[in-house]
Amino acid sequence: MGYARRDGQLCAEGVPLARIATAVGTPVYVYSWQNVREQYTRIDRALAGVDHRICYAVKANSNLAILARLNKLGAGFDIVSGGELERVQRAGGDPERVVFSGVGKSTADIDFGIKCGIDAFNVESASELARLEARTRLLGRKARVSIRVNPDVDADTHPYIATGLKESKFGVPPAQALDLYRRAWASPDLTVAGIDCHIGSQIADVEPFERALTALLELADTLGGEGIALDHIDIGGGFGVAYGNEPALALDRLGEALRRTLAERPLQLRVEPGRSLVADAGVLLTRVEYLKPAPAPGHRNIAVVDAAMNDLIRPALYQAWHAVEPVAENGGALRRWDIVGPICETGDFLALDRELALNEGDLLAVRTAGAYGFAQSSNYNTRPRAAEVLVDGDGFALVRRRETISDLLRPETFG
Ligand code: LLP
Repeated sequence: MGYARRDGQLCAEGVPLARIATAVGTPVYVYSWQNVREQYTRIDRALAGVDHRICYAVKANSNLAILARLNKLGAGFDIVSGGELERVQRAGGDPERVVFSGVGKSTADIDFGIKCGIDAFNVESASELARLEARTRLLGRKARVSIRVNPDVDADTHPYIATGLKESKFGVPPAQALDLYRRAWASPDLTVAGIDCHIGSQIADVEPFERALTALLELADTLGGEGIALDHIDIGGGFGVAYGNEPALALDRLGEALRRTLAERPLQLRVEPGRSLVADAGVLLTRVEYLKPAPAPGHRNIAVVDAAMNDLIRPALYQAWHAVEPVAENGGALRRWDIVGPICETGDFLALDRELALNEGDLLAVRTAGAYGFAQSSNYNTRPRAAEVLVDGDGFALVRRRETISDLLRPETFG
């Protein structure tokens, strides 16, 4: 479920994308709710047979409409800021299903989490543990703690999104984690809740997860030997999706491996998928503004569209490849085009060297854009951020209106 062509027209579920572009303009992010729901069910089924909780990594796509619907499905949430906690609350999410990750939690964010009674702080350093303990004492409320362990596992992914290597800023090595657990255990203000890791994003193989879980279990067993009991083990997110012909992570094989490695231990298994829940559900719709066919040999065919790197930064930042398809086939001659945005940077492209038949005014769909698309968008070049639309069956709703220039200028003064 998601995207398919009907009479040559690319549709999101029962809705032609062209209809959405006419109704709300471009650029616009479109999400298929049924696609998200199916992906949630797929992960849930893959983990069947073990007590588990899916904590959606809000950072991937934090639109309230998606959070509210995932909440209704029973999802928990992995947050990394007070802002994300606020979103989860607004979406009706239960703080008792929230885990809080991140290396730089501010005092304000820690206080907010303590007061809400979130399920666990995924603590990433000795200093953070000390600050958390001090804040709990001050606020007179206990906090539940998990230590983020860096298992030094190579997840074989883009260096900017690998997080489980010992050189990375995330988590603490197992030996230090042991020490932090002893401290947390001895503290009257902290409750030891679990253990967690997150080794990276867009991981295609099961093996790194297996190795990470094994490392975490080794530590959990050591803790158990000291009488320090955990209630959950969280292996983070990072489940790879297919942007092109590469294989997605085999969720069934992942589930099998995790079940086998956990081996009947009385621990709730937690996962924090972001991308794999929402990437495939989203497209970025953009219109061709100008065509600049190569004026001479050695030049490139340039198609300038109305979406830019401020809308989707993944190609510029991670050399990411997103499929680009015409919303309606125009039957014209194929050429190899660079699909670029209006921003004054050479790095402002959505796709390079794609064989397409293009006319000015054509609509294009940039595929697999539901994760880290809108969420990483900005106002660079004073461009209002795109609208967001959620499709469900034969209907669609505007779930974030397009920003206006006055939205952008409102916080500024002349000093
Ligand atoms: N848990 C933690 C602690 C994380 O840091 C992340 C992502 C996730 C879960 C979710 O990972 P996922 O399932 O989405 O792979 N902007 C990059 C991805 C950055 C991922 C950051 N952390 C991109 O567009 O590829």
